[in-house]
Amino acid sequence: MTIGKGITRRGFLAGLAGAVVTGARGAGAATCAPTEDNPQGPFYLAGAPFRADIAPGGEPGERLAVGGRVLSAAGCRPLADAVVEVWHANAAGAYYGLEGATGEGAWQLRGRARTGKDGSYRFETILPGRYPLSPRQLRPRHIHYLVAAPGHRPVVTQLYFAGDPSLAGDPLVLPSLIMPLNAARKTGGAGAPGSVVFDVTLAPR
Ligand SMILES: [Fe+2]
Repeated sequence: MTIGKGITRRGFLAGLAGAVVTGARGAGAATCAPTEDNPQGPFYLAGAPFRADIAPGGEPGERLAVGGRVLSAAGCRPLADAVVEVWHANAAGAYYGLEGATGEGAWQLRGRARTGKDGSYRFETILPGRYPLSPRQLRPRHIHYLVAAPGHRPVVTQLYFAGDPSLAGDPLVLPSLIMPLNAARKTGGAGAPGSVVFDVTLAPR
């Protein structure tokens, strides 16, 4: 995946908007089945800031737009005012706050978003790196999620990327959590970032 340099914020978000529309019509279309759980892991830090760009300050890595919708398993309706919290490793496979920077830097690659009326959320970040699970197994690239909405059971899960060779052999990976990574596209000569769409469906209480 090649990401062009000098991508504007507007272009970045426009690229994601297109990806979300594509995902809603394609293989990533929402279903009413609740999103499957996946372990929280040891790198969660409570209290991450609400913000769209979770990789500010020239964070090294390939830029990635992450977005989707939060839905209710009851009728697949979009859930407004859901809180989507994400955290992931940097390009070298380390988690800020626990394996790297402290202070304000601890929140790098961590953030929360609140869904609007259409249930949508989005983050700007970088493609997560892999890190060792054991001497012979790398954890595949993944983004941790904690999603909560009024009247619904929260879910803790992880998003994985199709085509990652480290998916094989990782005991945590579930097929329903693997989403296509849309490579950079050329739009009118301007580069667009990589993007992934991940809809999260919650079960009513
Ligand atoms: Fe992790």
